[in-house]
Amino acid sequence: MSIAQNTETAAKLRCISCGATPDSAGQDFRCTACRDLLEFFFPEWTDGAKPRHHTDPSALKSLWLSRRTSREALDQSGVWRFRELLPYIPTEHAITLREGNTPLYHLPRCARVTGVENLHAKHQGMNPTASFKDTGMTFAASSAHQGKFRWVACASTGNTSASMAAYAARGNMHSLVLIPDGKISWGKLSQSLDYGALTCQLRTDFDGCVEILNELVRQKPVYLLNSVNPYRIEGQKTAAIELMEQLAWEPPDHIIVPGGNLGNSSAIGKALVEMRELELISRLPKLSIIQAQGANPFYRCVHEFGGKKLEPMTADTLATAIRIGNPASWKKALRVLQATGGEVEQVSEVEIAAAKAEIGADGIGCEPASAVTLAGLKKLRRSGFVKGGESVVLILTGHLLKDPDFTIKFHRGDLFAGTTDATEAAQVKYLQRAPVVLDASLGAVIAALDAAERD
Ligand code: F0G
Repeated sequence: MSIAQNTETAAKLRCISCGATPDSAGQDFRCTACRDLLEFFFPEWTDGAKPRHHTDPSALKSLWLSRRTSREALDQSGVWRFRELLPYIPTEHAITLREGNTPLYHLPRCARVTGVENLHAKHQGMNPTASFKDTGMTFAASSAHQGKFRWVACASTGNTSASMAAYAARGNMHSLVLIPDGKISWGKLSQSLDYGALTCQLRTDFDGCVEILNELVRQKPVYLLNSVNPYRIEGQKTAAIELMEQLAWEPPDHIIVPGGNLGNSSAIGKALVEMRELELISRLPKLSIIQAQGANPFYRCVHEFGGKKLEPMTADTLATAIRIGNPASWKKALRVLQATGGEVEQVSEVEIAAAKAEIGADGIGCEPASAVTLAGLKKLRRSGFVKGGESVVLILTGHLLKDPDFTIKFHRGDLFAGTTDATEAAQVKYLQRAPVVLDASLGAVIAALDAAERD
């Protein structure tokens, strides 16, 4: 196994606001001059120097394809397979669960509902810990290992913590999880317990957890694994690279992602821009970001404040993964939105629940936060931003089984009972498939079957 060929991938850190290029980052991954976020950039790609072997587009495409038949762990990872486009981390520090390699599915029923025939979903919930976080985590956890940290930590709405706990365990590191007490799904909480994290449920929301963690990393030798960590963003770029490979390097017209802390949209957008620069693709898809109406600071940033400022808010949505009022990566997300010409939309709680059931009816399924993509697509169709003849890829970020409570309550008709959303919810009742409790008799089951046939 060797990743020697990318030792030349000389990545440098740069502040996204003041442009400072520090040699290394502090534990909070913020610019020491202006406190804004850092990002990696690759001077040799854009220096006007002649492309070297590893940036020759067709050579890279063949190399990546050839690794699909390799027996080496790093080649089997859908992240490390694309290591030529990532900063260099020595092989001995790589922690991999063979993440990435997620399927791209056609969604025939959702295509009919939206009038977009060429509609696909890239299901990042099919990663080892069942969310998209694994692609960034394999890379950032490896960087923690390289830095010889004993402890890694994150604040999370549940998926980052599940992923971090798994990768820390695989890399023989201790992990500290800060999650909001209450508003996270049992599935996600159970993962971090089983993977052995020190799991602290703080009596605050996600944004409150972030504040405490930022203080903690200034005082203790703990490696921060939230998406302000630029290694997380680099690993998450590979979802877009893999998607382009699956589409034979023919970009779709639109890619639609959920927006919470806005790391994922920043990563996918960064990958698109870089792939365009390296001539791996010939044009940029429009990257659109969808937020829940009750957790919409980025929507308001773009539509109310013209991208000039982000006003933090107290967030509330049943899609707990994206219950975030002060997204760290908003400036990065804004930049990729502008670079690709994408849109920002917001969707209601009932729209999210309906879209989730529709994705489920295509035999795919996802967690609530992922379903904002389909709900958002419906809105973007109505506004005319997405046309029927265009191709669209939804990024589904988490697996259906992450949050079964939401699903069961929706199908039983309990999700919105007694809330102000009950009237709107009545309109999507036709999507509900409540379980039927019957006497244990053949006759009762046949009657149920006949009734279903008549429906
Ligand atoms: N979808 C799911 C399933 C998520 O878990 C998250 C974020 C998002 C979408 C939004 O992605 O933050 O990069 O814009 N979850 C984080 C967590 C915050 O802690 O698990 P984003």
